[in-house]
Amino acid sequence: MLKNKIVVGILPTYYYSDTDPYGDNSHFVRMYEDRIKECGAIAIGLLYNNLDIYKDIVDAYLWPGGSIITKDFYVIFDDILKNKKPLLGVCLGSQAIATYFNILEDQKKQPNLPLLEVYDSNKLDNLYLNKLEGDKKSIHRNEVTKDINSINGAKHTINLKENTFIYDIYKENKIDVVSLHSFEIARVPDNIIVSAKSSDGVIEAVEYHEDGNHILGLQFHPEVDKDNKPFLWLINNSYEKYKIIVNKNKKVPDNIDFKIVNYKSSCEKCCAEENNLEEQTLYAFLKLKDKMRKLGYTIDLESGYRYHSTQEKLYNDVLLDKGKEHADMYVAKAYHSEHELGLSLDICANINGKWHFEFDKEMDSIYKELSKIVADCGFIIRYPKDKENITGYNYEPWHLRYVGNTSFAKYIMDNNLTLEEASR
Ligand code: DAL
Ligand code: ZN
Repeated sequence: MLKNKIVVGILPTYYYSDTDPYGDNSHFVRMYEDRIKECGAIAIGLLYNNLDIYKDIVDAYLWPGGSIITKDFYVIFDDILKNKKPLLGVCLGSQAIATYFNILEDQKKQPNLPLLEVYDSNKLDNLYLNKLEGDKKSIHRNEVTKDINSINGAKHTINLKENTFIYDIYKENKIDVVSLHSFEIARVPDNIIVSAKSSDGVIEAVEYHEDGNHILGLQFHPEVDKDNKPFLWLINNSYEKYKIIVNKNKKVPDNIDFKIVNYKSSCEKCCAEENNLEEQTLYAFLKLKDKMRKLGYTIDLESGYRYHSTQEKLYNDVLLDKGKEHADMYVAKAYHSEHELGLSLDICANINGKWHFEFDKEMDSIYKELSKIVADCGFIIRYPKDKENITGYNYEPWHLRYVGNTSFAKYIMDNNLTLEEASR
């Protein structure tokens, strides 16, 4: 984040020349920058050398069009896949995404060959991209794209598949788009979803969903159409949003856009109203549950997402039952709990056939184990011991908070920090 805004790193269109020193350069196309700005984020251009140094400031990546896939740019995938940062590829960018996953697949057959050498040995055989010919060429290589005043006449229709990122973006089965490309994606591996095609069979969108990633490649050009929707998708899926702080001083914002999904806890004492979780938080929780199962522990969800009214009732119940001092140190008031975001959850455990919670002595071994592994799934212990003066709450080893990526979670847990300290 910079100035509290999501930072979108834009890869350049790179031109290479080994004879003309001025021909060896990077271009950044203004339209992308404009779209990002209109969506409320900050765009920065990524220079060719040491691309990996940008990972500390970039929250989402945009790989725009161009004429050659610069394979050295593939280094950004280390950050994208490890830290689940979203990527939007446009035109050549979408071909680069499909190609990257094809190379990964092909590397399985040549495990001793480094990734970029697999690319070099296969690209010349056109294993990844086909050159467009005939009608396809005239429909998809529409030079009129370059004339902003006549783009409407240059559109063709594409068909969108439901339950995909692109369908979420447009919520239509068909949309009209403009294109300017000379190649098409020749094939994709099984883990890539082809989410849009034109009627002549050209792949118009590819997606990678595994492990909660948000990677989307569009063969067409939304930027020329001043279509901000895909850029908004990119920004909204930045995991940076998972670092949001809600505490006694900071309310749950009015405009939160976390997707709450249903989960059924196997613990019958868990209130059905509190079963739900934010989508990525649930995904991370299922991973954690599985890790714990492999270590011999059965954990589940005692409380997840809470409506404001549920949080209010909870506070009032504890107030009546245990008094104000206890309520204030353990329960947030309505609009001040992370449970109202869906990003926090209280863990319970089944020990010898009986469910245990919160202060139960039997939970100690569970808490010990959890503190060692939660960060591997993107969680932190949100209210650590001896940090009451910062968090405003007593030690709650059962209350986990999803923070979006494992490196941030590890940084917090390894250094015994609170979210407030880590975000300063
Ligand atoms: N137990 C934590 C503070 C909450 O109610 O959100
Ligand atoms: Zn809690």
